[in-house]
Amino acid sequence: MSMNQPKRYLITAALPYANGQKHIGHLAGAYLPADIYVRYLKAQKRDVVFVCGSDEHGTAIPIQATKEGTTARAIIDKYHPLMEQNFKDLGIAFDVYHRTSDPLHHETAQEFFTKLNNNGDLEIKESEQYFDEEANSFLADRYIKGTCPNCSFDSAYGDQCERCGKSLSPDELINPVSTLSGKPPVKKSTKHWYLPLNRHEDFLRKWILEEHANDWRSNVLGQCKSWIDGGLQPRAVTRDLDWGVKVPAADAEGKVLYVWFDAPIGYISATKQWAINTGKDWKPYWEDKDTKLVHFIGKDNIVFHCIIFPVMLKLHGNILPDNVPSNEFMNLEGDKMSTSRNWKLDMQDYINDFINKENGGSQMADVLRYYLTQIAPETKDSEFMWKGFQDANNSELVSIFGNFVNRTFVLMHKLCNGKVPSFHQDIADELDQQTITEIKNCANKVTALLEEYRFREALFEVINLARTGNQYMQKKEPWIVAKSLAENPDAQKSIDNCLHICLQLTANLAILIQPFLPFTAKKMCHMMKVVEKMLDWENAGSMKLLSVGYSLRAPELLFRKIEDSEIMEQIEKLNAVSLKKEGEKGEVKSETTEAKEITVKQEIVFDDFAKIDLKVGTIVSAEKVEKADKLLKLQVDLGFETRTIVSGIAMHFKPEDIVGKQVTVVVNLAPRKMRGIESNGMILMAEDANGKLHFINPEEAINPGSGVS
Ligand code: MF3
Ligand code: ZN
Repeated sequence: MSMNQPKRYLITAALPYANGQKHIGHLAGAYLPADIYVRYLKAQKRDVVFVCGSDEHGTAIPIQATKEGTTARAIIDKYHPLMEQNFKDLGIAFDVYHRTSDPLHHETAQEFFTKLNNNGDLEIKESEQYFDEEANSFLADRYIKGTCPNCSFDSAYGDQCERCGKSLSPDELINPVSTLSGKPPVKKSTKHWYLPLNRHEDFLRKWILEEHANDWRSNVLGQCKSWIDGGLQPRAVTRDLDWGVKVPAADAEGKVLYVWFDAPIGYISATKQWAINTGKDWKPYWEDKDTKLVHFIGKDNIVFHCIIFPVMLKLHGNILPDNVPSNEFMNLEGDKMSTSRNWKLDMQDYINDFINKENGGSQMADVLRYYLTQIAPETKDSEFMWKGFQDANNSELVSIFGNFVNRTFVLMHKLCNGKVPSFHQDIADELDQQTITEIKNCANKVTALLEEYRFREALFEVINLARTGNQYMQKKEPWIVAKSLAENPDAQKSIDNCLHICLQLTANLAILIQPFLPFTAKKMCHMMKVVEKMLDWENAGSMKLLSVGYSLRAPELLFRKIEDSEIMEQIEKLNAVSLKKEGEKGEVKSETTEAKEITVKQEIVFDDFAKIDLKVGTIVSAEKVEKADKLLKLQVDLGFETRTIVSGIAMHFKPEDIVGKQVTVVVNLAPRKMRGIESNGMILMAEDANGKLHFINPEEAINPGSGVS
């Protein structure tokens, strides 16, 4: 534990863009570890505020609006509440979930900018920027595509190459084109404000590479070092764009703050909102040196949180982050998670399929939290496998943790009249002592690991304690001892001691598991008939948590088994809705990828092709598949018959819009069940570089059943 404890904590989790569903990679990267840490701090009764909110500016929002055929405002109003609810359902307990479109944030960001601008901390430069003459608009970096100078990928964005991950500026792109018009842009002069990072190199070097050399994660230090060594340049903090926080300066018409300038200030706005909601003072959280500020983020946010925002904070007179625990990426079933290819598991989908179902509930939120923590990409990329998820649940949560608690309760009811038995010191043996010591040790280990943001290992220790409990009980065999009650005068004492220890161990498990699996801890409190105050961290390691003679409730199952069929269904769904995974194997792409590399599959002979029977069909009806927001159930007229085909296109088309359309159908594909519906064939779609789907159909309607070859 840290020697001098800070007076208060301000914990942030990266503000997610309100431009679409967030997947479990996001959850595992920032929100879940932040929540675990905060729950731990709160159990320690520390003064802590946990802030987050939606990032609603930048080009991601208008780009999504164009995709969905609506306005930027409609996009944020759709995704903000949805994300807020998703977090709640998964037990992520922010003290405030704010949004950057809020006037309070606009004021806060403008005040911040004005202070820096007035103090001469920004530079104003006139420069030539890319302009799309056809669209009559300056082009945000994301609106320009071209060839990456680093890896030659031909669809790199003006701000980053999604193939090699290198941060770029639009000027570095080879053969740039505007994504608005598809034409090469021209250069036009415009004025912008810059944050001269170059002035702060010495500060950054000393603060990060020296002062934090030992407490920041090595992946974070590595990225920072390469940035600093690469030479820091002035960064433009304004943009010619009409969506965002207006630049509060004269002669700044049509300019907004760069999203990465305003978004992190959102942490401050959110804290202000929290203060308004609770009647507290927000200032010490950002100004008092005795506050420990910790930013939880994913690895693509490192430079913004470790280099740019700290420089802003320093100039503005705020405290600096004490740590920036950043995770690497999480893959899914052997491939990078990708929104554009639909290779992902959205929080919403998990909630629909596991939590909101009758046999689900909050325990299933805890199962996801468990598995994601167990495979947290703390030091390297990791892999979410449905089979692994099932195993983690069935062979650890059910068989170890749940089983121990259940056995303890059942035996206590059977052999100790449903009451906490006494501990008889006179017959206590070595094994009892050892177990008591292990409980104490475990509490200390978990505490130390949590203080160091080592959540995966901390969780392992907790499960290990349950394992210890099982072994202890297995050696003591109170159910066997019970058979000798008549002849052995010490038998009841021995049973009592065993169950006394098992019950105190159970109470300790509840305390230690609480940051990770809050719903489970709550349920355990209910079973033990104790108030949640018992979960205070100071109680960890104690053997006096449940008083002797106290009667406890009947056991309830903490976790249920996950069946093979549930896992199969998820894997099938993933394959059904994702876009041609096979042809794309081996590609390197990050989550935000929009571009698709064009690859050619392995050569086949004509006979291979001839096996595929393609025919034109007409969609005669289309409906959503219940509880599967990506699937549509289609009736397709093929001339000789009308077939049911389930297709993963619901995110792209409304059912009513596609009735009457002709499609190309693979008619001799083996039937396959999706969501309990048998699909008889597959429809073909073309996918453009933006991941948008297009029908492949004859130019003019022709008879259904016509062959395609
Ligand atoms: N919206 C950004 C992303 O999803 C994160 C913003 S974090 C903040 O990558 F600090 F800017 F708020
Ligand atoms: Zn590249």
